[in-house]
Amino acid sequence: MKIGAEEMPRKRQEELGQFLTAPLLADFMASMFGPLPRTVRLLDAGAGAGSLTTAFAARCCRKRGEVRAIEASLYEIDGEILESLSAAMSECEHRCSDAGIRFTFTIHSTDFIREMSTRLAGDLFASKPPVFDAAIANPPYRKISTDSAERRALRSVGVETSNLYTGFISLIQRLLVPRGQLVGITPRSFCNGPYFRPFREDFLSQLELRRLHVFESRQAAFRDDGVLQENIIFHAVKGRNQPDEMLISSSSGEHGDDMTKTVFPFAEIVHPHDSEKFIHIPSTAGHAKAKETMDGLSSSLASLGVTVSTGRVVEFRLKQALRKEPDRGTVPLLYPCHFNGGTVHWPKLEARKPNAILDNDETRPWLVPSGVYLLTKRFTSKEERRRLVACLYDPELVSAEWVGFENHLNYFHASGHGLERTLAVGLYAFLNSTVVDQYFRRFSGHTQVNATDLRTLAYPDRNTLQAMGRDMKTLELSQDEIDQLVNKHLHACR
Ligand SMILES: C[S@@+](CC[C@H](N)C(=O)[O-])C[C@H]1O[C@@H](n2cnc3c(N)ncnc32)[C@H](O)[C@@H]1O
Repeated sequence: MKIGAEEMPRKRQEELGQFLTAPLLADFMASMFGPLPRTVRLLDAGAGAGSLTTAFAARCCRKRGEVRAIEASLYEIDGEILESLSAAMSECEHRCSDAGIRFTFTIHSTDFIREMSTRLAGDLFASKPPVFDAAIANPPYRKISTDSAERRALRSVGVETSNLYTGFISLIQRLLVPRGQLVGITPRSFCNGPYFRPFREDFLSQLELRRLHVFESRQAAFRDDGVLQENIIFHAVKGRNQPDEMLISSSSGEHGDDMTKTVFPFAEIVHPHDSEKFIHIPSTAGHAKAKETMDGLSSSLASLGVTVSTGRVVEFRLKQALRKEPDRGTVPLLYPCHFNGGTVHWPKLEARKPNAILDNDETRPWLVPSGVYLLTKRFTSKEERRRLVACLYDPELVSAEWVGFENHLNYFHASGHGLERTLAVGLYAFLNSTVVDQYFRRFSGHTQVNATDLRTLAYPDRNTLQAMGRDMKTLELSQDEIDQLVNKHLHACR
């Protein structure tokens, strides 16, 4: 008798966390593995009716030559599904044999968590834990309470986690040989949930993330079971050196739909100094669209007659000339702390930074004549919504003949002088748009925005920028309003 999840009473299904993977999805997961050894020791923990191993074996059969033998170990606690599992494995054996692959399998009708915890803990009477070259998993999802047997078992091997699926992944990871691979489909909750922090630390210190696949629809992956769960698929390799870049792909989850793929700097996914180790999954569709838009722009900053430079006032070189408060003989000195929405708020006497600089023969070479300048922060904090934060220095708001821009700022100018106003406002809108931000994040994994990055960016032509500038009736627009305005003009200039 073949048992499918759909025939199972709901309560039992939930208890076992039994949501089976559809063949198409299982095949997609199997396609994610990198090169495999000739003999693959394969682990399928929480095997259900065996769809993942079946898909894995079918892929090996199609990709003739690489894999010559598969030694599958399947763990499944549900006695009622074992017959189906066993039948599926015999089927695999035949298929593989036809393709010249030796397929052997062992079905362990045991509790994977308890068995592996005992063996990994090195209990005196327990046999040594097995090792695997590859694992494919759709582990059960269920909360496990602090005093449950599963939780105690996991704790004995140093795994502290509140869900069965993260427990499974932590154990699977420990059973992989160095460079062993894991493809898993799990809820997305581990990526940023505060309770999953120990799991993330464990995961990211032992597994190198190679690819993440997200479903844009919440129901997509398990819609037949009606489970509302945001799932992701990941491919990871046992090792301690995270890659410089990784692939993020996404699809709606509908059959035959398009897949968007984008390579991101790893530092963009897990920020290097983030103690929470959040795994940020950018929206690939948005990024792909941003790239398409930016690729369609052909003006360089130089062709617009605009230059971007790093603020010239370096604190330690001009220390004697800096003043906390504006005074006679001084001119404004601008720091990132003076950014205030679309414009600057100067002076800011409550800030720790100086507000003024002496204007004399020694300091003049580091100052610029008053005018309309566009300023951007060189460093943004991780918490800031955008990587690129631009604001307008408007001489109508700060009366002075000269001004100093400190070194933590970049400033856009026209050969050392201010910019024509509508052009500056257009640049303000463009640089603060989501399109530019998403594009920028693709190639810059760090939070620093160098003048060189801004110089090499593609820009809309002068007319388009000026049209944007004219359309901006105020600088205090919401992100949505800026995006609408910028997109409208970018669209019109195509
Ligand atoms: C989400 S289902 C996935 C099944 C299968 N891998 C698939 O993708 O179709 C998880 C499976 O793990 C099994 N399971 C739950 N707890 C288990 C445990 N402690 N040890 C072994 N298997 C378990 C369930 O019975 C269920 O079949």
